[in-house]
Amino acid sequence: MNSRERFLSACRFLATDRVPVWAMRQAGRILPEYRALRERRPFVEIVRTPELAAEATLQPVRRFGTLDAAITFSDILVVPEALGFAYHFKEGSGIAMERRLDTLAQIDALPPPELVRERLDYIAQAQRIVKDALAGTKALLGFAGSPWTLALYMVQGGHFDDGARLRDLAKNEPAAFEKLMEKLSDAVAQNLLLQIEAGGVDAVQIFDSWAAYAADDYQGLSAKWISRVINAVGGRVPVIVFAKGLDDYGILAGTGANVLSVDSRLPMSVVRERLAPQKIVLQGNLDPAVLLETDLETVRSRTRAVLDDMAGGNGFIFNLGHGVPVGARLEAFAAMLETLEASKK
Ligand code: CP3
Repeated sequence: MNSRERFLSACRFLATDRVPVWAMRQAGRILPEYRALRERRPFVEIVRTPELAAEATLQPVRRFGTLDAAITFSDILVVPEALGFAYHFKEGSGIAMERRLDTLAQIDALPPPELVRERLDYIAQAQRIVKDALAGTKALLGFAGSPWTLALYMVQGGHFDDGARLRDLAKNEPAAFEKLMEKLSDAVAQNLLLQIEAGGVDAVQIFDSWAAYAADDYQGLSAKWISRVINAVGGRVPVIVFAKGLDDYGILAGTGANVLSVDSRLPMSVVRERLAPQKIVLQGNLDPAVLLETDLETVRSRTRAVLDDMAGGNGFIFNLGHGVPVGARLEAFAAMLETLEASKK
């Protein structure tokens, strides 16, 4: 079976010859070929230029032939940008938004979701180039930020402060909050439908990177809106949900997600037990810090430990608990992949 078949089989609980593998943030700064590209072009330009975004998407799968999926090189912040809330990188690190959303009038004035789809067409153009290059050998993933996480960037303006402004909006002006979340959910849905219908992706992942700030009312603040997006996707492709820092996997399973991406705080088998008897595909969850290790035997044994923990069942995709960290060693990444390949039946 090829990588694409392996990945899609795991998404449907079918048997595979080994567990499929990819890594969040596999493209980007850890690769010397990406850094060379970045020296010549700003990040936002790479994202917006289909040939360059395709190149950055393909770099990790070219270097590491046993990766089973490519993830489209883009950013969750392209949706706020298409809605008129542009972003830039701060000196050093971190994100700043060009302006902050703070009035109901601004929420009313947000452009309609169809316009978001039009403005983001460059993503689908990049995906078609990647699809041609992959020729069905590997899965291609699309993605978007969750409505809650995107609202945080827009309302907090890049200063998170535990999400205080957005949480106040939800509490004190529930109608305005609902309107914002509806509009964002529909924009995210259009972005994903664009990637599925025009870009041809095999699966999509929704990143709720700031789920932890919604934890006390996760259903109302975030899960409800993720469900709305998943409904709009309508089963066209598998949907993976990654809610970083959230322990209530039951709520996440209730969104209609096909796959839950699990961070590194709990062993995967514990998450599987908590969800039983529900059957839902799990993705994860090697601690990203393992990739900073200089001792490759440690990398191999930690990778095997995650595999052993989930042994004896289908419906498992190997990944990290979060993105590949800055400073990850390429040798460590390769040792992780070799360990997966060595587990082949
Ligand atoms: O390889 C991949 O995973 C695909 C590409 C991808 C990027 N961003 C490229 C990128 C994906 C899937 C994302 C998602 C994303 N973007 C998330 C959700 C994932 C997560 O980590 O929880 C979030 C929160 C963002 C917003 C964002 N974009 C941040 C916080 C940053 C880092 C800013 C900094 O430098 O401190 C970015 C920039 C970014 N997105 C880079 C890349 C490769 C680095 C840009 C560069 O310097 O080249």
